[in-house]
Amino acid sequence: MDIVVAPDAMAACREAAARIAAYMRGTPEPVLGLATGRTMEAIYHVLVGMHRNGLSFARCRSFNLDEYYPIAPDDPRSYHAYMRERLFRHVDIAPERTRVPDGAAPDPERECRAYEDAIRAAGGIGLQLLGIGLTGHIGFNEPPSDFATRTRLVELDETTRRQNAEMFDDRWQDVPRRALTMGVGTILDARRLLMVATGAAKARIVRDALDGPVTPMVSASALRQHPACTVILDEEAAGLLRSGG
Ligand code: GLP
Repeated sequence: MDIVVAPDAMAACREAAARIAAYMRGTPEPVLGLATGRTMEAIYHVLVGMHRNGLSFARCRSFNLDEYYPIAPDDPRSYHAYMRERLFRHVDIAPERTRVPDGAAPDPERECRAYEDAIRAAGGIGLQLLGIGLTGHIGFNEPPSDFATRTRLVELDETTRRQNAEMFDDRWQDVPRRALTMGVGTILDARRLLMVATGAAKARIVRDALDGPVTPMVSASALRQHPACTVILDEEAAGLLRSGG
């Protein structure tokens, strides 16, 4: 695992965006695994700027990690809306080449199987972008999540619903109790992983994930079993690491 510590959050996000752009430029048919959350907003902002300076997304396909369930794709609080507003509508990627789990699917298990099939049909994910939740989740893989799990319907922890309440007028009880998420096994199948965490609030869980035991109780610790994983932190998020990053 390669750990990069940037001086601040913006520098961490610029570094992440530069690596995503390098992957896109160096790959004939890039397949991006995309993430949501506040950390990712600056990364998408930088990528949109790069697009305006010539970076094309036309050859890309994308698969997002997760979506609330149930939620309509046109609900402004959905991850469909997040992706549309922060990235897709600003770049040259055709909507049919982007995919986010369907939070309105009448049969969630079928949707999860179809999602796995679609990733496989695209040749697998080349670069998967990841954040980390305060419970150590990647995607919405709350503890405990077996490292072999595939895309599935999960229950969200109260901690996560509270962490994500901002989009729901700060009413955590309004955050859906469930979500569709790629499994830890789905994530580990990506050829390269890029996790980004910034800010002091993440320091403890970053330390647990990178310095603690590799355990299904901290989903992000699974990344240490991946042969090509880079973690980009700012100094605050790296603050409790044994190695100092
Ligand atoms: C949500 C997403 C995760 C993301 C996490 C971190 O829970 N499902 O994929 O890593 O948020 O969010 P933030 O960047 O807002 O801290």
